[in-house]
Amino acid sequence: MSESAATPLLFTPLELRGIELPNRVVISPMCQYSATNGLANDWHFQHLGRFAGAGLVFTEATAVEARGRITHGDLGIWSDDHAEALRRITRYLKDRGAVPGIQLAHAGRKASSRRPWDGGAALDDSDAAAGEPPWESVAPSAISPFDGARPPRALDAREIAAIVDAWGSAALRAHETGFEVVEIHAAHGYLLHQFLSAVSNRRDDAWGGSLENRMRLPLRVAERVRRVWPREKPVFLRLSASDEGDPSWTMDEVAVFVGELQKLGVDIIDCSSGGIGAHGFAIRGRREPGFQVGLAEEIRRRTGVRTMGVGLITGARQAEDILRRGQCDLVAIGREALYDPYWALHAARELGADPDFRLWPNSYGWWLAYRSRTVGTGSETPPATFSYLEEERTHR
Ligand SMILES: Cc1cc2nc3c(=O)[nH]c(=O)nc-3n(C[C@H](O)[C@H](O)[C@H](O)COP(=O)(O)O)c2cc1C
Repeated sequence: MSESAATPLLFTPLELRGIELPNRVVISPMCQYSATNGLANDWHFQHLGRFAGAGLVFTEATAVEARGRITHGDLGIWSDDHAEALRRITRYLKDRGAVPGIQLAHAGRKASSRRPWDGGAALDDSDAAAGEPPWESVAPSAISPFDGARPPRALDAREIAAIVDAWGSAALRAHETGFEVVEIHAAHGYLLHQFLSAVSNRRDDAWGGSLENRMRLPLRVAERVRRVWPREKPVFLRLSASDEGDPSWTMDEVAVFVGELQKLGVDIIDCSSGGIGAHGFAIRGRREPGFQVGLAEEIRRRTGVRTMGVGLITGARQAEDILRRGQCDLVAIGREALYDPYWALHAARELGADPDFRLWPNSYGWWLAYRSRTVGTGSETPPATFSYLEEERTHR
């Protein structure tokens, strides 16, 4: 077997600053809309815990302040209690050999919404009657995200500075809670993307207008996060590299933005798309496997930054090929991990990176290895230390 066949790139560790990702499978941030008052609970623990096996497991978008939640069910990290509720998740993931990552976010004008399965529209009095009142959303300009939605309030300069502080405090808390990677959510039409986009940002002060001004808040946030986040821990930033609702946000502008982020010490650009229109995440149109990977590839080629690809990456060989072609450095798995939480472990098997189930916890892996040695072979005997079947027979 050639060396390249023996060592799939997907299961080759990647060093980022002082952190080693054991493999290049990343669980993409996925809102669960299942928190109460922003606090993580048993759902989040078991949801994220199952993904260990992936090298890096991201929390869902975690709000840096209460009004930056999309829905009442979003996670937050705007207080020490919120951080404490996340601690057992970071501890468990590390115990299982995965790197815990947190995505920090602020929904801006997309805040105060219903959960997707309740239609995703802006909260109103009927929700208030059911115990989930609307709250005031904020944005660069008072422009509604959707037809019929109440317009957000435009932030003033003092409030913008306070939001930068909130990102810094959230990042510090995340570090103290044991997260090893932080991702700044600047995609999908949320607050930082709203500042970047000329569609949602019509300001005529230092925070709007030219690209330099529209980039100012995301760059300030990146600068602040990088400042409080330890030097040995990587910073990721997710952006929408293309948006059908915003023709002015071109790859040329994206490349300038990424260049500035590189200067500030952002390590990985997580390349998604869409969101400035009514759509939640990803550009509209025909979905094909790996439909956003080309964006990651182009950004990587134009700027030299390391990138993460995401969007309908579902197969182990597909992921391996994407990495081998040099399109990106990491692959993020979203919905396929909801379908198969052990995606990374199964991919390792498929690519021949884990013939003996060593990546699995002993409680499962030992049995599965035994089964794979015996089932269908007809000739193998249990390992010398193996007594379970004997005991079972004795007790029958
Ligand atoms: C249930 C769900 C929740 C999501 N929540 C987030 C989120 O919190 N932050 C984010 O950046 N993207 C979020 N996304 C987008 C995913 O991270 C990912 O980019 C998208 O699902 C495309 O990848 P996939 O085809 O592998 O699912 C979410 C997607 C889903 C399905």
